[in-house]
Amino acid sequence: MFESLKGARILVTGGAGFVGSHLVDRLLELGAGKVVVLDNLMTGKRENVEQHAADARFTFIHGDANHRGTLETVFLVHQPEYVFHLAALVGVKRVEEQPLEVLKDLDGLRGIFELSHYHGVKKVLFTSSSEAYGEPVAMPSAEHGPLNANPRDPYALVKLIGENLSHHYWHKYGLPTVALRFFNVYGPRQESSGYGFVVSIFLDRVMKGLAPVIFGDGTATRDFVFYKDNIECILRSMVKEETNGETINIGKGKPTEIKELAEMIIGLSGKDLKPEYAPTRKIEIKYRSPDTAKMEKLLGCKATTPLEEGLRITYAYLEEKNRTACVS
Ligand SMILES: NC(=O)c1ccc[n+]([C@@H]2O[C@H](COP(=O)([O-])OP(=O)(O)OC[C@H]3O[C@@H](n4cnc5c(N)ncnc54)[C@H](O)[C@@H]3O)[C@@H](O)[C@H]2O)c1
Repeated sequence: MFESLKGARILVTGGAGFVGSHLVDRLLELGAGKVVVLDNLMTGKRENVEQHAADARFTFIHGDANHRGTLETVFLVHQPEYVFHLAALVGVKRVEEQPLEVLKDLDGLRGIFELSHYHGVKKVLFTSSSEAYGEPVAMPSAEHGPLNANPRDPYALVKLIGENLSHHYWHKYGLPTVALRFFNVYGPRQESSGYGFVVSIFLDRVMKGLAPVIFGDGTATRDFVFYKDNIECILRSMVKEETNGETINIGKGKPTEIKELAEMIIGLSGKDLKPEYAPTRKIEIKYRSPDTAKMEKLLGCKATTPLEEGLRITYAYLEEKNRTACVS
């Protein structure tokens, strides 16, 4: 299925981050001819892609995807055929603290689409988010259903504009594009500090013998997708022509309450802990529930990894990481 990526020149912005670095692993494994990572290392880490340092097909560029000059040079020098645009300022806490910084990602979006069009890129994939739905009006949330008409946070605003640009560039200029609305992706390499995402934050705290802290009453839901399932969907979205100009939910379609997640993590750790509760955060959304029919139809894939299994793998990864950090 991925023949078109074999030998291809590929740009991955945000490729040193959690999802991006797993994508880079897979692209090289599939036989990509050249994989260029552009990452400012704001949340990403060099060590996430260090395993490819000796691979002649791999190039790491420490730079800002929102800086026009940097992007122009990258396109001119590396002539990418496929562009995965993942670079973004992420995480509820970071977005709350730096709302204006988030809006700079609009510069990156303009640059990526304009330059991809100008250089005749074969396809651009943009990673949007379930935040496009805001507090959902309809559940499960389907791509053609109501969106976040009044985004309370700049992250949602950037993602909505990115989706619209993606759509526009396909319909107006014939540049093949696809936008993916990720729900909660989790797995090894995800940031586990308080600035990260709920699964890694809970896992990290529980491993350290600390109670997971739940904002609100714990009945909020999220839809958790193990990174391997997510990467498979990303790749299929890139190579399938049927996805051109589309926006697609990438979810499991099985929402889990946050208190249930906390209990599961405590359970697998075997520790004697109880979740703690704190007031809801300002831009917190209560429910997430994706309709996955379009993803299944267009991509022919499902997020099949059971949550328990994905959590066990991620917990084992964090344990190993902590052990290595203690030894060195
Ligand atoms: N992980 C999730 O659950 C989730 C959910 C919805 C959407 N997404 C989207 O998926 C993408 C990847 O997210 P992730 O979870 O891997 O987060 P991440 O923070 O691990 O990855 C983002 C990467 O982008 C880099 N980056 C940020 N701004 C940059 C800039 N201006 N120039 C160059 N590099 C920059 C960071 O250093 C990092 O390596 C993001 O676009 C995010 O909005 C993720």
